[in-house]
Amino acid sequence: MAAIRETWNSRTAFVLAAIGSAIGLGNIWRFPYVTYENGGGAFLVAYFICLFLAGIPLLMLEFSIGHKFHQAAPGSFKKINPRLEWFGWFAAGVGFIIVTYYAIIMAWSMNYTYEAATLGWEQEEGKYADIQYAIAETDLEDMGVLTEIPDSLLGRGFVSPVSADQSIVCDDPEDPEGYGTILVAFGGHLYGFNSVDEANTFMGSPGDFFFNDFLGVTSSPWDMGEFKWPLFIGFTLTWICIVASVWKGTKTVSKVVYFTVLIPWGLLLLFVIRGLTLSGAGSGIEYYLTPVWSKLMNAKIWLAAISQVFFSLSVGFAIMIAYGSFLPKKTNIAANAMIIGVADALTAFFGGLAVFSALGHHASSLGVPVSQVVSSGPGLAFVAYPHIITTLPAARIFGVLFFLMLLTLAVDSAFSLLEAVTASVKDKWKTSHRKSNLIVGGIAFLLGLPMLTGMGIHILDITDHFMNSFGLTLVVLGEVLIIGWGTGAEEQRHYINKNSSFNIGIWWNICIRWIIPMGILWMIFSEIQQRTVPYGSFGIRSQEFVFGWLLIILLPIISDLLANSKGTSEVE
Ligand code: PFF
Repeated sequence: MAAIRETWNSRTAFVLAAIGSAIGLGNIWRFPYVTYENGGGAFLVAYFICLFLAGIPLLMLEFSIGHKFHQAAPGSFKKINPRLEWFGWFAAGVGFIIVTYYAIIMAWSMNYTYEAATLGWEQEEGKYADIQYAIAETDLEDMGVLTEIPDSLLGRGFVSPVSADQSIVCDDPEDPEGYGTILVAFGGHLYGFNSVDEANTFMGSPGDFFFNDFLGVTSSPWDMGEFKWPLFIGFTLTWICIVASVWKGTKTVSKVVYFTVLIPWGLLLLFVIRGLTLSGAGSGIEYYLTPVWSKLMNAKIWLAAISQVFFSLSVGFAIMIAYGSFLPKKTNIAANAMIIGVADALTAFFGGLAVFSALGHHASSLGVPVSQVVSSGPGLAFVAYPHIITTLPAARIFGVLFFLMLLTLAVDSAFSLLEAVTASVKDKWKTSHRKSNLIVGGIAFLLGLPMLTGMGIHILDITDHFMNSFGLTLVVLGEVLIIGWGTGAEEQRHYINKNSSFNIGIWWNICIRWIIPMGILWMIFSEIQQRTVPYGSFGIRSQEFVFGWLLIILLPIISDLLANSKGTSEVE
């Protein structure tokens, strides 16, 4: 049954929609913290190499697959070989899991528009005046903290992740001052300070607000903590926005993107300028831009870089295949891919400038190195940006605008995924657009609910790590093997050239056939081998690790079930 496929209103609408999908929280929220975690400058170098050798060639590949087969991912791979339909579902499944936690970050942003309006992260004076009492009250052992305080933890205003397996115990937790340091443990973190004043400066900060008041973070992913009802409201509104944006298909998308792409760019620029003019910003920028070349020998950095590139370009999610399938016959695949890749990377680079200047400013006010200023991880953006916002005149207005910007940036990424999965469902079962949207959005909503509790950020962090490091990379590996070695890179390159304003050379085949698969295999194997040290604050053989792998293994099984279930066209 050859239904007439929706197409984009215009080329600009397509480019903006694809840019809208690419540019999102990945640039402003994820890129800065992954860069911070991986040592700044060196990561940046790896990132740009991966962008040009893998990201952009893969965008061309995904657009051309969708354009050629005129189907979303499962239908396209089925056309290549009926036995490959499951692989298309697998790609959509990885994207689907990602959107379940992506919507949580959107909910944080939604609620932070309110916090910004009231400057909620500015804590009451002397909140921790009774800090020593707080320490005595904290059951350190119970939190899996402390045997012996390592030298590295003795100092000023640093934060260090503490895990259950890192049994550090204070001889006398009642008397931490015996060590010349004030220690406070919460949220799986141990904080050390020299004086109550110092502790108050740091603890009463946006970081403290975010982790403790806003999220109520617990010490492990197995400790549920409190269900945060305010977040539930933000989360529900978030999903309503996502579903509403695609209610009428590509026609609404074509209009929404003008607002969700262009306005955020202006605001981001403002934040960069303000960030760079803060005192102490230079040290943050230096950390961001100075590469330590020796770090490039480490496969871990490359895996982080390549998976960040995939995440950021929405490659390996089945999204760009679906978007390619909505393209009209006459199109320009190579140029579109270049524009989207470069625009996306520039936005990430600017997001990094804003965050690192804020980190530099914060570090210099605390007198600590940039590398130790905050606990990295998914909370970084929600700690760093408020630091900039607070220093702006009319802070509340800019704060509200900033978090609205995050939301608008994220909404078109989230709905691109919804569109991709919905298009797959529609292709197979011929369900109506609205029904498919509600089903897909509804399931994603339910899966996100556990992340609204105190353990939410832990689950999010683990899922994010596994889905990016292994989910996206495995999808891409499959794509380049199927096309590069199966149907033929040369044939695909001809197809791209036939549908582009300029020709891409043989280098594209080399990337698809050799560089990308060999690179990914090297990174994944070294990562697995190196994983004798904990991931973040979690140990390799711990339950968290099992949870991560379980997700990766379950997905192909579910995908196979979906592929083997009867589609509507097959019944007819
Ligand atoms: N490219 C998006 C970003 O950088 O934010 C990543 C993304 C995540 C796209 C989740 C779609 C999605 F559902």
